[in-house]
Amino acid sequence: MRAGRFITFEGPEGGGKTTQAKRLLARLRDQGRDVLYTREPGGTPTGEAIRDILQHDKAGEPLCDETEVFLFAASRAQLVRKVIVPALERGTIVVCDRFADSTTAYQGYGRGFSVEQMLAINAFAIGDAVPDVTLLLDVTIDLGFERITGRQKELFEQADRIEREARAFHERVRNGYLELAQKWPERFRRIDAARTPDEVEVTIWEVLKDVLP
Ligand code: TMP
Repeated sequence: MRAGRFITFEGPEGGGKTTQAKRLLARLRDQGRDVLYTREPGGTPTGEAIRDILQHDKAGEPLCDETEVFLFAASRAQLVRKVIVPALERGTIVVCDRFADSTTAYQGYGRGFSVEQMLAINAFAIGDAVPDVTLLLDVTIDLGFERITGRQKELFEQADRIEREARAFHERVRNGYLELAQKWPERFRRIDAARTPDEVEVTIWEVLKDVLP
């Protein structure tokens, strides 16, 4: 067993991952624990530069889907070695907003790349840094879309042109996550994220009692 604990938040858009990650962090800090929050893609200077390429089309050309896979993996490989593993070795509780399962769900199940290939690329990128627990904040696509505001809403509005495709994509992502949760029942905890943020927060805290040192 590693000294720290590695907790990841996953799920489709609009499940409240970032809100819940922040609430969890506050609770852990209240207990006086050493905690670290990080996000994907990003979390290191190299990772943030990759995030810019992924999100703002910095290179000035459309990204190929295959390139996207490797950029996510590259950001992750850097984050694991520079931030996550050293923190876990110090005994820190690391909370990561999205991790390798996002690539399997979005690029594998969502875009339709081979799930086996995505798992192999993830394995290379993360080495032994497999999360101790993955909180899958599960929400229907309808409710997730309804909740999204601001920047993310704009992304969806752009996608409206191909609304049916966009919707089918997100359905595949969600179903992919549910499959992953069945494949690794030890690691995954499916949390019903349709409830209020307070209710979800309490459930997460209950779930983590068994995981925290
Ligand atoms: P979010 O973290 O604000 O939800 O935004 C990140 C977006 O990037 C989200 O749409 C999911 C997507 N994503 C992938 O497609 N693959 C990945 O490996 C990761 C980490 C994120």
